[in-house]
Amino acid sequence: MESLISLVNKLQRACTALGDHGEESALPTLWDSLPTIAVVGGQSSGKSSVLESIVGKDFLPRGSGIVTRRPLVLQLHKIDGEREYAEFMHLPRKRFTDFALVRKEIQDETDRETGRTKQISPVPIHLSIYSPNVVNLTLVDLPGLTKVAVEGQPDSIVADIENMVRSYIEKPNCIILAISPANQDLATSDAIKISREVDPKGERTFGVLTKIDLMDKGTDAVDMLEGRSYRLQYPWIGVVNRSQADINKNVDMIAARRREREYFANTPEYKHLAHRMGSEHLGKILSKHLEQVIKSRIPGIQSLINKTIAELEGELNRLGKPIAADAGGKLYAIVEICRIFDQIYKEHLDGVRPGGEKV
Ligand code: GDP
Ligand code: NA
Ligand code: MG
Repeated sequence: MESLISLVNKLQRACTALGDHGEESALPTLWDSLPTIAVVGGQSSGKSSVLESIVGKDFLPRGSGIVTRRPLVLQLHKIDGEREYAEFMHLPRKRFTDFALVRKEIQDETDRETGRTKQISPVPIHLSIYSPNVVNLTLVDLPGLTKVAVEGQPDSIVADIENMVRSYIEKPNCIILAISPANQDLATSDAIKISREVDPKGERTFGVLTKIDLMDKGTDAVDMLEGRSYRLQYPWIGVVNRSQADINKNVDMIAARRREREYFANTPEYKHLAHRMGSEHLGKILSKHLEQVIKSRIPGIQSLINKTIAELEGELNRLGKPIAADAGGKLYAIVEICRIFDQIYKEHLDGVRPGGEKV
């Protein structure tokens, strides 16, 4: 199944590269019809930190205030071998092996679009990471929801960020990673508020509780983690990311993950939940979920890829959709078939419930 996700990743990239977003393009927006995972939440709730620990690499700008100012579309590709590297779509053929430089390029590319200000832009940055230590996933890091504009920001920024976030998570195929800090009341969680709006039944929302280590003494997150504070269809997952002090001290990811594991295993309140807590568990759950979604949505995509253009044209004809001879060949045909499958899927969406994941 992993190869299926990998294939979908490739199709997504091919479509983006082919100008899938262009107005003149004959290609349907396959991009919009494939599952992605978007990270949403308030500013500094820990979104970028969660993404980093899923990837198991230091590469994202993090910190207090508005750090993430453009959407980052991040594709993880599991590969054999030892070497890990990253590539940006805006820098084709340039391989990054130093992830500190990846972070710098994200910052520079953000500034190129927005200026060195606190402005935001909806134009995404596309980054691929190839590594033996990741699961195949496509993730989107988004600017944090905020309540007021700060110095240097237009008043419209609050609504602009909300609209940008909504444009990603309102799509029925978007899996929402709703990030809430445990040291704030869930009733005030921006992540819960906006995800409830687009996914009222919580069918594609995964609740992630960060900053469990920062809760007031004498309080704990057990009610939240066991779904008694706010119920979601899928169980809440708690994580402990690196603190700002850890980041300043360059505490590495492996040490951070070990500490996170120990934290849940050794804190009496969380011991019984330890097997379903932490960043590694989150990565596995997401990958498994994504597989299920893809499987149910695009039947036989692998066999489509293996078909010849003549067979694909035959298939399109059968589906009642004759293909234009000059429309772009095999990829076009595959995309077109996927789109039709997608339509069929959407028509049945009301009747289809994602299988409740037993963890
Ligand atoms: P974002 O704005 O939502 O992307 O949040 P960041 O990932 O940039 O994190 C904001 C700040 O909170 C950083 O200084 C992180 O080090 C810190 N932080 C995030 N998660 C945790 C956590 O679980 N525990 C602690 N102690 N600090 C965290
Ligand atoms: Na931040
Ligand atoms: Mg961020």
